[in-house]
Amino acid sequence: MPESDLVLAARRARKHARAEYSKFRVGAALETADGTIVTGCNIENSSYGLTICAERVAMFKALSEGHQKFRRIAVAFDTKAPSPPCGACRQILWEFAPDAEVLLANLKGDVVKWTVHELIPGAFGAEQLREPKT
Ligand code: THU
Repeated sequence: MPESDLVLAARRARKHARAEYSKFRVGAALETADGTIVTGCNIENSSYGLTICAERVAMFKALSEGHQKFRRIAVAFDTKAPSPPCGACRQILWEFAPDAEVLLANLKGDVVKWTVHELIPGAFGAEQLREPKT
């Protein structure tokens, strides 16, 4: 699928954001290895700490539907320049989509591309858990 369609899917998903408290609406569109698009939006709660980001909603939906490999994720924000994704989402992407490309977009048409490795270099992961303890 063309990059612009994935970004469009993220912008559309953003419309479903439940951002009553921050008013900061985010949409995500995750492309799986077989070309399926799974979307997500941020969902906030009056108990603020229960809030979940758009990227993680998309990833958890996809994993729970049986998708295991991912090519790209587009994330859409209404910011002057495309916003960076939060640290928690970077860690989740590292775990489940380490080779994915991340397209950060705003509503004006700006798109910035990163790899997950660039966004979270030297991340903690399964490798550390496998290391022998001293
Ligand atoms: N948010 C996301 O959905 N993704 C990010 O990468 C950054 C932050 C959401 C969480 C919260 O609902 C709002 O944006 C403000 O932090």
